[in-house]
Amino acid sequence: MKNGTKRWGFVANQELNTASGITVRGVLNMVMAAVDPEDPRSTIPLGHGDPSKFPCFRTSEVAEDAIVEAVRSAKFNHYSPTVGILPARRAIAEYLSLDLPYKLSPDDVFLTLGATQAIEISLTVLARPGANILLPRPGFPYYEARAAFSHLEVRHFDLLPEKGWEIDLDAVEALADENTAAMVIINPGNPCGNVFSYQHLEKVAETAKKRGILVIADEVYDHLAFGSKPFVPMGIFGSTVPVLTIGSISKRWIVPGWRVGWLVTSDPSEILKKTKIVDGIKGCLNISSDPVTFIQLGCSITTWATRVQILETASMCLQGGALPQILEKTNKDFFRKIINILRQSSDICYEKIKEIDCITCPQKPEGSMFLMVKLNLSLLEDINDDIDFCYKLAKEECVIVLPGIAVGIKNWLRITFAVEPASLEEAMGRIKSFCQRHAKRPQ
Ligand SMILES: Cc1ncc(COP(=O)(O)O)c(C=O)c1O
Repeated sequence: MKNGTKRWGFVANQELNTASGITVRGVLNMVMAAVDPEDPRSTIPLGHGDPSKFPCFRTSEVAEDAIVEAVRSAKFNHYSPTVGILPARRAIAEYLSLDLPYKLSPDDVFLTLGATQAIEISLTVLARPGANILLPRPGFPYYEARAAFSHLEVRHFDLLPEKGWEIDLDAVEALADENTAAMVIINPGNPCGNVFSYQHLEKVAETAKKRGILVIADEVYDHLAFGSKPFVPMGIFGSTVPVLTIGSISKRWIVPGWRVGWLVTSDPSEILKKTKIVDGIKGCLNISSDPVTFIQLGCSITTWATRVQILETASMCLQGGALPQILEKTNKDFFRKIINILRQSSDICYEKIKEIDCITCPQKPEGSMFLMVKLNLSLLEDINDDIDFCYKLAKEECVIVLPGIAVGIKNWLRITFAVEPASLEEAMGRIKSFCQRHAKRPQ
């Protein structure tokens, strides 16, 4: 005891502070704190990836009913197997196989607590001493945070705005060495709203194969493509290079709070089995928490519905009696509605940006929920950088936007267009008047 203060034998793990300092949520919380609580206007969140609170983004009734039924049945109150419940694994395998030239088996699928846990598992499994991983810049900072926590060295390759945010594959080749385990791609893209073409993904596969690394394909925004390019899953190239596919129902079904995701080995040559990566995944799941059991059943019903919707064959519908047909109709409309809102709101956002001098969007978004704009600070009087811009915008206009530094590129901004179109128009109007107010006056 010193000066009456007892010395305790415990301290918090400081690595946690370092790793969690660079998450989107951490940065957004800091920006949100700048909002004036006395301001009567509502705060418009253009910084997040969760539109579930907006009525137009409410999830499908099918999904809601599936959950209610699962709970009411009292059949899903038990612990889940660590890898997930078989019907849910099977449903996900079938859902993903629809877009692949080979058929996934339920054994290729591991249920996770959202895509977040799938990222955590992948990076933990690959983090042997001395290993490194190649991450996109701009990207999703949870990868950097998890890599830091697992002592996995990070090397960044750029996404190229002038090429529609395609990957700088020459940089990938140059960065990879004998200790590189994997490269991560996010498609459709967060934060850029880009969708990779088949041809580009083929080149990604060839580059990864040449360098002997696996591809982690984060497809959490799968099928949220509303531009000229369709969504192409990286697993299509699973025979060229082993792929770990990450996904969830968080975005396509707009239920991020349900915490259902998956980690899938899209690897028909079974390289990931031979190299014991699959054993590593199972081991990691053995020491992790499992997804909620009744939602896994709900998940299997909704993915089944999607399967029915896409296949549109009566024979498939018969397997579940009348129900799949009802689900088919509901879901078709639901997905179409969501895509239409995203297309409409991305158009609004893109067009309004053109009216604002100090920000430019190099690439019209074609997918996901975001776009990136470059800040021209030389046109602004009293704004130091992207963080300063977002702080002052939050304070003066109650609009939340993510500073580019949070996704790896300084003096850019990430804007979410996945909000109610009327709120988006209002927010873009406020950003415009903020920029006009802070515009440099002619000398
Ligand atoms: C690129 C990317 N990957 C993974 C996740 C996490 O997804 P989930 O909510 O399913 O955990 C997000 C969430 O925003 C994301 O944007």
